[in-house]
Amino acid sequence: MYSDKVIEHFMTPQNAGTMPDAQAEGMVGDPSCGDCLVVYLKVEDGRIRDISYLVFGCAGAIATSSMTSVLAKGRTLDEAMAITEEDVISALDGLPPEKVHCSLLGVGALRAAIADYREKYPVNEGETYENSHTG
Ligand code: FES
Repeated sequence: MYSDKVIEHFMTPQNAGTMPDAQAEGMVGDPSCGDCLVVYLKVEDGRIRDISYLVFGCAGAIATSSMTSVLAKGRTLDEAMAITEEDVISALDGLPPEKVHCSLLGVGALRAAIADYREKYPVNEGETYENSHTG
């Protein structure tokens, strides 16, 4: 039912845990199943220097949260914002159809965390995150 990649990320989730000194966080819950994910970020020179998360959910939610964090780490905020559910699913070598919605959690919480960061640390006109904030 699950690909080897999904099982690998479910058994040994990458970047899991809280981040007491996070600069930003984003939370998403899926009302259809009650699962929930919080993503924490640290940003330096406009790039995601550190990312972690707490996830309450199924194997698919855990694996997609883990893979989302792997895909986002080291990316610029714009690049991370552009990560899609399809990117996460394809990096996991697919998800069973009834588990596709689990991937929405990771991408949704990542985007919410980036939005939270941008709200807390707005750039000045003419600047970009890459040249304005060092975290
Ligand atoms: Fe809801 Fe997986 S069953 S996130």
